[in-house]
This record gives sequence, structure tokens and C-alpha cells, in this order.
Amino acid sequence: MNTLISILYLALIGLVTALPSSLIPRQDISGPASAFKSCVSLQNSCNATMVNLSNFYNYTSCFLLTACLSGMENPAQVLNVSQAPATQPRLAESVFYAITNRNSYMTQQNYIDAYYHQISITPGGSYPDDITDVADQWSTIAAWTGFCATGNIPYANLADWLAYSSVPGVCPAVASCNTSTTVPTIQVIPCVPQPITDNGSCTEMATQCQFWVTQGLFQNEYCVLASFCYAWSNTDVLLQQVYPLNTSPMPTTALEAKLSEAVFYNMTGGAASMTQQNVIDAYYGGLTGTWTSLGGRLEGMPNKTDNDGPYPTSTDYVIEFWGIISAWTGFCDTRTIPYDKLADYLSFAATSEDHPTC
Ligand SMILES: *[C@@H]1O[C@H](CO)[C@@H](O)[C@H](O)[C@H]1NC(C)=O
Ligand SMILES: *[C@@H]1O[C@H](CO)[C@@H](O)[C@H](O)[C@H]1NC(C)=O
Ligand SMILES: *[C@@H]1O[C@H](CO)[C@@H](O)[C@H](O)[C@H]1NC(C)=O
Ligand SMILES: *[C@@H]1O[C@H](CO)[C@@H](O)[C@H](O)[C@H]1NC(C)=O
Ligand SMILES: *[C@@H]1O[C@H](CO)[C@@H](O)[C@H](O)[C@H]1NC(C)=O
Ligand SMILES: *[C@@H]1O[C@H](CO)[C@@H](O)[C@H](O)[C@H]1NC(C)=O
Ligand SMILES: *[C@@H]1O[C@H](CO)[C@@H](O)[C@H](O)[C@H]1NC(C)=O
Ligand SMILES: *[C@@H]1O[C@H](CO)[C@@H](O)[C@H](O)[C@H]1NC(C)=O
Repeated sequence: MNTLISILYLALIGLVTALPSSLIPRQDISGPASAFKSCVSLQNSCNATMVNLSNFYNYTSCFLLTACLSGMENPAQVLNVSQAPATQPRLAESVFYAITNRNSYMTQQNYIDAYYHQISITPGGSYPDDITDVADQWSTIAAWTGFCATGNIPYANLADWLAYSSVPGVCPAVASCNTSTTVPTIQVIPCVPQPITDNGSCTEMATQCQFWVTQGLFQNEYCVLASFCYAWSNTDVLLQQVYPLNTSPMPTTALEAKLSEAVFYNMTGGAASMTQQNVIDAYYGGLTGTWTSLGGRLEGMPNKTDNDGPYPTSTDYVIEFWGIISAWTGFCDTRTIPYDKLADYLSFAATSEDHPTC
């Protein structure tokens, strides 16, 4: 950390202790304290008695509060700390078009103008010291929606950001619009892209894997299933997610032992090849009666619970990741994969440049 950043960091920590603990930034705390304080002051408007919390994005102040927290809290977290229901109607068009002066997209300047105007009419509204921080908030949303080049974000994309950017597996178009960011102050875990049908199931499978991963990534059924649903990413990323960030050296796929035959034949019911149906059954089975632990993830014996899911919203989800694996192994026609080919996929796909589809 350079001196300026550490001073800001300390200022922010001091500020944060004076604010509701639920608004402590979880990710990027590099933004200067005055911008954060300014942003949080919008709560005094979003919190007005006439606000219908079941239609959160019908209010400019609540939209702006969500937008200005973009680098720290995702929209779902902002709803939660605002005591608003998690399910919301899309961004009101009236809010959007009032800010854009009837234009079909919102520019960075529109956002900045709306932000300063809202602060001016907010009781106890606090201005940020530096306009750059407000521009940076917009930049975060421009990166997610993929409009870094112009910073002009159309209605549908902005509404999508509010609706989907908190969903596990929905990744930003790009991580940042700032390509010159060389030294991230906080290590960023790669986002794992997932279709919307995933419904958080793959994250849960990775959590289950975490209990057993020290046995080897391909030596237990949960980690094999998590490796499957990481088909849109890769198993090196899975390892980074299941091991603590400070693990050194971080295990890699290349060092993991080959797929266990016991696990393979258990999943196929003894057959020489794994069918799509085998995988569907195993995936849903793995999410039924999940394990939990009071102790650490990697140590301490977990206990089986009668908690289930979240399951995918459709078996199409499993069919999709098995399709990626079938393509890589050359079995698009039958989607039935023999042991050796599946073991190769698990050991080598992470470092392969080959991404065929069926
Ligand atoms: C919401 O408004 C009430 C009444 O004006 C106030 O007491 C409360 O502190 C506000 N909450 C937040 C989180 O700003
Ligand atoms: C609040 O918003 C919801 C969702 O649009 C709507 O169904 C409800 O009628 C609104 N309540 C009031 C009091 O306007
Ligand atoms: C949305 O806000 C407008 C005015 O700000 C209000 O007239 C309308 O009733 C609100 N809609 C809902 C569903 O709360
Ligand atoms: C906020 O999240 C907590 C923890 O997940 C949950 O218990 C609470 O019900 C949520 N609040 C709202 C308003 O959804
Ligand atoms: C990009 O990030 C670097 C390093 O964090 C910073 O110095 C620079 O001002 C940023 N550029 C823009 C355009 O925000
Ligand atoms: C074999 O499969 C059963 C049921 O699907 C499961 O309960 C068991 O843990 C599996 N055994 C191994 C070694 O993976
Ligand atoms: C497992 O369950 C037992 C008894 O229900 C409990 O005492 C123990 O703390 C649990 N262990 C963990 C790691 O959660
Ligand atoms: C999707 O996830 C939600 C939240 O975890 C859960 O309540 C729901 O049951 C899941 N859908 C299915 C089909 O399991």
C-alpha cells in the first residue's frame, strides 16, 4: 500500500466504525472516505417514509445509492441493508429517462449530475471531495455491462446490472474499465461464469467439495462434480476458491492425482462409461442432504444435514456442462464418456487451449 492509500484506508476504517456495520465495504475499499460518506448519506433520501421498499428502483435516490456502492456492495446487499425485499421490479423507466433527459442511454455525465443533484436535496447529504470517485462508481457499472469504451449504458443493460450482478455465476463483461491497474490492493478471486439455470448450485457443490478437497480434487464425488460444473471456468480456479486465499503454494490441477476409479464406478453404478443421466443423478444427489461444519472448512469432521440444494432451476444446467465435457472428450454424439477420457478431461482441460462445443 502506498502512503496515500493507507491514509485513506485508515480514514475509511474510522468512518466505517461510525456507520451501520452492515454497510462495511466487503471488497474494494480504495475509494476515498468522503465519497463513501457521501454515498451512504443518500440513505437519508432512499429511507424516506414515502419510499415503497417493494419497488426500490422506482426511486432515484435508491437507484443512486445502489450505483454509488457499486465497488463495495452488490445490489442484493444494498437491498438487504436497506431492509428491502430481495425480489424487485426492474429499474423504473421513469427514473432512468429522467436522469438521461429522455435519451436511450445514461452517460457518465448524466450519472454525475444526478448524483450531485440528489445530494443537494438529501437531508444531511454530504458531497464527495473528488468528482473522480463518482466517475469511478459509474466505471464499475460500465465494466459490468461492457460499455467501457463510451461509458454510455442503455436502459436494458443498466436494469440487468441491478437485477443480475448479484447472482452467483453472472460475471462482469470485464473486471475493470481501467486497463492500467497493475497492482490490485485486494486480491480478486476470478468470477466463475455460469448460466442463470445454475441457481447457485455450483457454488454449493464447491462448498461441499471444500470439506473433502484435501483428499485430492478428483478423489471424492463432490469435488469431481464441482470440477464438472466449473466447465465454464477451470479447475485451477476451483482450487483457488476452495482453498484459503493465503494458501501457499496454491494447489493446481496439474499436481492433482488422476480421477479415482472408485469414484468413477460409483457414479456409473459399475458401468465402464458415464452417461448424462449418471451425471444428472449424481449432481442432484450431491446437493441432497448437504454437509455442514461448525469448525473450519478444511479441518474438523463435517456433519450430514437434511438441508437440500440449491438445485439448478432445470436439468438443462447439468446437460450444458456435460455438453462441454462431451465436446472436449469427443463424445458429442452419445454424451457417454469412458473412464480414461474423463480422467484426461479432469487432469488436462484446465491448461488446455481447446474449448470445443457440441
Ligand atoms: C431511516 O430513517 C429514520 C427516520 O428518519 C432514521 O431514524 C434512520 O436512522 C434511517 N436509517 C438509515 C439507515 O439511514
Ligand atoms: C409497492 O410496490 C409494489 C411493487 O410494484 C406494488 O405491488 C405495491 O402496490 C406498492 N405499494 C404501494 C403502497 O404503493
Ligand atoms: C413509483 O413512483 C411514482 C412517483 O415517484 C409513484 O407515483 C408510483 O406510485 C410508484 N409506483 C409504485 C409501484 O410504488
Ligand atoms: C438480510 O440478510 C439476512 C442474512 O442473510 C437475512 O436474515 C435477512 O432476512 C435479510 N433481510 C431482508 C430484508 O431481506
Ligand atoms: C487506473 O488505475 C491506476 C492505478 O490504480 C490509477 O493510477 C489511474 O488513475 C486509473 N485510471 C483511471 C482512468 O481511472
Ligand atoms: C457412492 O455413491 C453413493 C450414492 O450415490 C454415495 O452415497 C457414496 O458416498 C459414494 N461413494 C463414494 C466413494 O464416492
Ligand atoms: C456434529 O454434530 C455433533 C452432534 O450433533 C456436534 O456435537 C458437533 O459439534 C458437530 N460437528 C461439527 C463440526 O459441526
Ligand atoms: C434456487 O435457489 C433458491 C435460493 O437458494 C432456492 O430457494 C430455490 O429452491 C432454488 N431452485 C430450485 C429449483 O431448487
